[in-house]
Amino acid sequence: MAGLFDPYTLKGVTLRNRIAVSPMCQYMADDGMPNDWHQVHLAGLARGGAGLVVVEATAVAPEGRITPGCTGLWSDAHAEAFRPLVQAIRKAGSIPGIQIGHAGRKASANRPWEGDDHIPDGDPRAWPTIAPSAVAFGGGLPKVPAAMSLEDIARVRDDFVQATIRARDVGFEWLVLHFAHGYLGQSFFSTHSNRRDDAYGGSLENRSRFLLETLAAVRAVWPEDRPLTMRFGVIEFDGRDEQTLSESIQLIRQAKATGLDFLDVSVGFSTPEAKIPWGPGFMAPVAARIRREADIPVATSWLISEPLQADSMIREEQLDLVMLGRPLLADPHWPYAAALELGIDRAAWTLPPPYAHWLERYRAA
Ligand SMILES: Cc1cc2nc3c(=O)[nH]c(=O)nc-3n(C[C@H](O)[C@H](O)[C@H](O)COP(=O)(O)O)c2cc1C
Repeated sequence: MAGLFDPYTLKGVTLRNRIAVSPMCQYMADDGMPNDWHQVHLAGLARGGAGLVVVEATAVAPEGRITPGCTGLWSDAHAEAFRPLVQAIRKAGSIPGIQIGHAGRKASANRPWEGDDHIPDGDPRAWPTIAPSAVAFGGGLPKVPAAMSLEDIARVRDDFVQATIRARDVGFEWLVLHFAHGYLGQSFFSTHSNRRDDAYGGSLENRSRFLLETLAAVRAVWPEDRPLTMRFGVIEFDGRDEQTLSESIQLIRQAKATGLDFLDVSVGFSTPEAKIPWGPGFMAPVAARIRREADIPVATSWLISEPLQADSMIREEQLDLVMLGRPLLADPHWPYAAALELGIDRAAWTLPPPYAHWLERYRAA
């Protein structure tokens, strides 16, 4: 039975272990361009030993950025700026992945440490937002988005395709469509945000349409031997969880039939009223259920921080990969420490030779 430190192969890609860096916005880009901050951040995480490093939510169009500091992939110049990052991740032994997305009605926000709320209209840093329907998220994100026309829907779908082509051509090997967290894809699916009465709203089939059409269009340009994955909020914790889960499972089965290889199971975050049962590893049982009922390999994150807990989630076949966010900000070498704690022979194998060589000797001394 596989454990946390066994390699994981999906399509033509093999990860050295089952630890993945969950995508984490850095809010440090200018005009969507990644820079030396991202280089050091991502190379450090890869050097720390994770099998997969997923680059932060990267916008397919300027209006799809969450904040003015978010990265983008809407021009070839952006793609070229990612190339050295891809190389640095690979050189350190990790597989380079990227999450592409569109923030929809949650776009045009201040950085988390500057308020995490919408930038007020009239502020030169703000921009107009779009979403399935003209319904605001609420709370600190009160801006009412413009309801997308059919042309807008076609354009954004094509923006996803163009961003995928750029990600493919600079060498990313693992693609994540960000259809979670109340951003555009999730907001087409959720009745909290989608009030349309055309082919993109109403029934489950209609609310799934934008996601499945985008997935199919992306699959057509993303190489068959590289995993095409999606992050999706399968549950909202809004009191209607069984219905949402059942609809999510139907969507995921269809997504699998459309070419989805893997799912990062997350929370919908479609309403500020949600009552989320935060606790260690609380999403793992939900992910295990999706894995079983939709018959697709899964990962999840959210408060998984203990090596034994992460290892048993893999061994018990709840998860295929463990995604880690904040534990890796706290310690990019978490995989090394975890290997030691789990008694993995030659724990330093998780590190590249300029570190591994010395740490092996140091441990043996
Ligand atoms: C600084 C930061 C930035 C994040 N940015 C993203 C993102 O770009 N895309 C995404 O899907 N989730 C994002 N998240 C959520 C993480 O990917 C992860 O799911 C979450 O932090 C829970 O995992 P953890 O408990 O291991 O931190 C972010 C989280 C943090 C802390």
